[in-house]
This record gives sequence, C-alpha cells and structure tokens, in this order.
Amino acid sequence: MGTVRATSAFLRGNFAPVHDEIDSERLSVIGEIPAELTGMFVRNGPNPQFTPIGRYHWFDGDGMLHGIHLRDGCASYRNRYVQTRGLLKEQDAQRAIWTGLLEPPQIEIPEGATKNRANTSLIWHSGRLLTLWEAGEPYAITLPNLETRGPHTFDNKLKFPVTAHPKVDPETGEMLFFGYSFAPPYLQYGIVSPTGELLRTEPIDIPVGVMMHDFAITPRFTVFLDLPLTYRPERVTQGKRALAFERDRASRFGILPRHGDNTQVRWFEASACYVFHTLNAYEAGDEVVLVACRMSSYDLSGANSDPESGIPRLHEWRFNLSTGMIQERRLSPIPAEFPRINEQFMGRPVKYGFASKTAATRLPRFDGLIKLNFESEGLPTTQVHALGGRRYCGEAVFVPHPDGDTEDAGWLLTFVHDEQQNQSELLIVDARNLECEPVARVLLPQRVPYGFHAVWISDAQIQATL
Ligand SMILES: [Fe+2]
Repeated sequence: MGTVRATSAFLRGNFAPVHDEIDSERLSVIGEIPAELTGMFVRNGPNPQFTPIGRYHWFDGDGMLHGIHLRDGCASYRNRYVQTRGLLKEQDAQRAIWTGLLEPPQIEIPEGATKNRANTSLIWHSGRLLTLWEAGEPYAITLPNLETRGPHTFDNKLKFPVTAHPKVDPETGEMLFFGYSFAPPYLQYGIVSPTGELLRTEPIDIPVGVMMHDFAITPRFTVFLDLPLTYRPERVTQGKRALAFERDRASRFGILPRHGDNTQVRWFEASACYVFHTLNAYEAGDEVVLVACRMSSYDLSGANSDPESGIPRLHEWRFNLSTGMIQERRLSPIPAEFPRINEQFMGRPVKYGFASKTAATRLPRFDGLIKLNFESEGLPTTQVHALGGRRYCGEAVFVPHPDGDTEDAGWLLTFVHDEQQNQSELLIVDARNLECEPVARVLLPQRVPYGFHAVWISDAQIQATL
C-alpha cells in the first residue's frame, strides 16, 4: 500500500468528488428547455467515496452517475454512486481497500487485484442501461432512479472483462463490444443480439497486450485499434512502468467482417499513435474509413518528451481492402476529444461530427464544443461554441429532434462547470448552429465534478427499461 496523497490535482477543484447523493426537482433554467427534449441525460465519472490510498489517478474514482430528467420544459437532478462489488466491500470497511492504476495490482486481495469502478461510460441496449469500465463486467442501472441492479453478465455467458465503448448498430440493433487483457488472449470480441443475448465471442490474435480503449463499426466490418501502448511486465524489473508507449512500433488497425472469425482479420500498419476515442467509421467503395482523435503518443504518467504527446486531434485513416494501402490525414488542427455523432448514423458516412475542444490547461479541461462539416471542400469546416471565462464542459451528447429532417437537427447536451462562480449546469445548444447563444442552461443544485462519458436516454427507452 502506498501513502495517502490527498493532494493529487485530481482531488482538488472541480476534479474533487462530491459526497452527497441528492434528488432535486424543478431546477432553475436560463432560457427555455425545448418541449420535444424529453428523456434523461446521464453522465458517468470518477468520484472516490473514501480517501484514496496510494497515488491517485483521475481514472481511479468510484463511478458516480449524474442524471438530469427533462420533461415538459422542466428539469430534475439526481446523482448516485454505482454500487459495485468493490465499493460495497469498502463501504463495509468504511475505508478504501484498493489502490489505483499508478500502484501495482493487489494480488493479495481475494476479491480481485483491481476494483471494477464502473466509472467510465454508459450504454442503453435491449432494455438495460449499463455502466462500463475499462476492463470489467458491466453493471445494470435502473431508470429513472439510477440505482445499481448489479453486474450484468449476459446469463453468465460473459467470460472476459469488457471495455467502455460497445457500439449499437442503429439498423440491426446488434451490440458489438470487445475486451482486452494483459495476458493471452489479449483481445476478445463479442456480439449481442438486438434482444440482449450474447450470441458469440471470438478471441482475436494480437502480438502483445495493449491498452485498447475504443473501436469502430460499419455495417459489414468491425475495426480494432492495436496501438503501441503496450504492456510488458519485464519493464518493471528495469524500474519502468509495465504499460508504456513504444514510439518505434507501428499502429495496427484490424478490419474484421462483423460476423467473421480471427482468421479473417485484415491488418493495416500505420505510424505510431494513440487513440482513446473514435468518432465513427464507414464504408466507401473498397475502403473502410475511420475517423478518431489521434495523439502522436500517450503516456499515462504525463512524463513524455514529445510536446505533442497527449494532444488529440481529429484524424482520418482510409484502409483500402483491395490494394492494402492506407491513406491518412489530419482533419482539424483544433485539439479536441470526446468525439460524437448523431448515432442514428453510426457506422455510416456522416456529414457532421461533434467534439469537446481541449483547453490549454495542465489538467484535462474542455473550453467549448466544436462541430465539423465533413462535406466541405478540402478539410472539414469547423464551428465553435466557446464557453468563455473559466467555464469548462465535458462530453456533449447529440440528441436528435424527434421531427428532425437533417442529420444535425437536434441539440448538444453537456455539463459545464463555472470555476469562478463554483456553479455547475447542464448546457443545451442547438446542434444546427453552435455559434448561437445556448438554448437553455439548467442550473444544478450541487457541483458536478469533471467526468467521462454521457448518454441520452429517450422517454421510450426509460419506459422500456427492465
Ligand atoms: Fe472513453
């Protein structure tokens, strides 16, 4: 066990956790919440319940869900911890038991060497809202109450840890996902039926364990990102971290027919890079096109001599399945992360992409939203919604207008925190024109710490939730 380091920058300011689980009705609104915007915005993020032990990383906190329910132009707020098995054990002990990812795994703990925090993302599929982590079983959550039902293992068919970014095909209703491990098999792929049955899993061969956060789908293909953030335990004996970026190792992109097997993966090699999140992928003739936020390198500890390390920008790779060639280009000079689209077009060519604009601050903050138009000549044109002042947002989710007739007809929803006023809010922006004033700002009754991924759950989905 390490020492208590409550001085971590990720335990201060608006990275610091909140401790109260509250319910609040009839929130104050600046502007007007559109009557058509009926449903729930829920965001996941790290929020340690007990004083962390050892060195604390932002990724280490217990999952906390912050939900805003919108109906008839009114808003209510509720926040709840994800009651994971590890957190329940810590609640029994009234103290932290597990350290975080900057400390060695605690192989002596019988319940597991690491704690599944369920703190990273959310996805709604086949009547279930699931919270997800980097490498663990999903937890099912009730709606609209945000209570934890417990681990969801697909009737015990799930045999490997799942990552945070499954994809739901908007036409077939299938959910595709993967999991990775630092011991063989390093990569596993899974397909869930539209009704929530885990149909099959398939180990995919890659040469060494890597941190693989996201992937992408098209109607016919699944795209895996085998990037050189490798896990080599032998590094520890040299006094280094086991997980490290290898800048002289290729980035490998694997393209698999959706229902194919390991033998059918086509691998393409490109220059070393790291990607946390994909925006989308699609098919164009013989090509599979991937758009994602690319960093030239990435180091978890932040100690890296590359000035571009850790700075994400939207980037396009075109993989030609008949010639085996790759073309790639930077799509935008603006550092941005949390890329999202209108998910009704997931896996298909999209005209628009949205992302949060990375602020030039030492800690990860986002000072606005951007919208890229991919159909413009040359590089995509960009619109910016700048927050101004010391106001920072998180991931923005696109919510389609129920009667929308264009891809961008709808709204972007994100939490914003004003560090000067110490006030959090839900920001609602018209996605057709980011340069307009916000449609509405919903003032929140308590601080919402900076966090990770969000989801929009429509009223129909809330009612269909098991
Ligand atoms: Fe993520």
